[in-house]
Amino acid sequence: MATQAQIVKATKKYLIPSYGRVPVAMVRGSGARIWDADGKEYIDFFAGFGAGGVAGHCHPAVTAAIKAQADKLLCAGNLFTNEPQVQLAEAITKHAFGGKVFFCHSGAEANEAALKLARLAARQNGSSTGPARYKIVSFHHCFHGRTMGALSLTPEKFQKGFEPMVPGSVKLDLNDLAAVRAAVDGETAGIFVEPVQGEGGINLPTKAFMRGLRDLCDQKKLLLVCDEVWCSPARTGEWFGYQLFGIQPDVMTLGKALGGGAPVAACVAGPKCQDAFQPGTHGCTLGGNPLCAAAGVAVMKLIEDQKLVSRAARKGGAIMKAIRDAKIGCVKEVRGSGMMIGLELDKPGKEAFTKCMERGLLINCTADTVLRLAPPLIIPDKDISEGMEILISVLKG
Ligand SMILES: Cc1ncc(COP(=O)(O)O)c(C=O)c1O
Repeated sequence: MATQAQIVKATKKYLIPSYGRVPVAMVRGSGARIWDADGKEYIDFFAGFGAGGVAGHCHPAVTAAIKAQADKLLCAGNLFTNEPQVQLAEAITKHAFGGKVFFCHSGAEANEAALKLARLAARQNGSSTGPARYKIVSFHHCFHGRTMGALSLTPEKFQKGFEPMVPGSVKLDLNDLAAVRAAVDGETAGIFVEPVQGEGGINLPTKAFMRGLRDLCDQKKLLLVCDEVWCSPARTGEWFGYQLFGIQPDVMTLGKALGGGAPVAACVAGPKCQDAFQPGTHGCTLGGNPLCAAAGVAVMKLIEDQKLVSRAARKGGAIMKAIRDAKIGCVKEVRGSGMMIGLELDKPGKEAFTKCMERGLLINCTADTVLRLAPPLIIPDKDISEGMEILISVLKG
């Protein structure tokens, strides 16, 4: 096997440098632990930007499902149907708001599907003589992905060099309902909102705001799209983040943790728009392939069997309390829901990230001053305590 130095060197030579990587190659993972090519062990509160987030690394139930499916059928194409994708859709819709599912591989693609769906549904529901409805409201500090449609809804700092964007994006402040009401006009098709903003620094909308968005969408016949790619399934202490607010969206997008590490993403459409896409209007060649869908089915079953929704709420609450109780000078605020936690520091978080990593704890720094903690939901109590000890000692030091 190549050494860490060799892999890092080859990375620079062969891979397009689109990521700000640390010079470490990960080679093995188990539960909430991961090892690099030098054999160094880490407790993982990072979980691959949330993508390894529910099941942890190489959960036996997930790997068994992948191995079993790999021996049967990898892909046949969406000219046909297959049982794993139907099972995964059933598991998602059972815990959500019913509806129907379109499968793809990444959060950005799921949001592209939702964007197209919002435009199509707005046209189908609107008058044939009125203006085409195409505008989408999204919120500052959101993140919806890197493809052109999703990028258009995402803050300007990510768009630099790629303009012009897809027309019709309107960005407003989260929790400013009056501004949303004022911005919606006869050309608006939908509103995209994250129930918990992940990349933007773990920011939560208020209940009143989310309910206000729901009412506005009902009044104006817009689609309310919840981008749950970061926060679901189960991470916030609810199956899906919108459930924190007592509302139902018209569309929900999922990705990251859904496949337990396998690339699975979904656009889930409720009854109002579930049949808007008809044959030929949208597609994804490998979307819902049996291999990745089988991994997703195993993840959803694991959440149910191990009661990971309530565990996320319980353990996440305990982690947030422990940090608040530690009264750490540089921590201005602890916020989040379930095991999606942000620590707002009074300084950039990069140094804490580096020191934690040196001491064997992976965390993430986002929005410059926010440390993001997102341990896998199956993390053993012992790993939580060990990780917290490192984190608190680094922040106090
Ligand atoms: C809320 C949200 N939506 C969409 C995306 C894009 O997902 P992907 O990187 O899988 O395209 C992300 C990625 O971080 C995200 O946090």
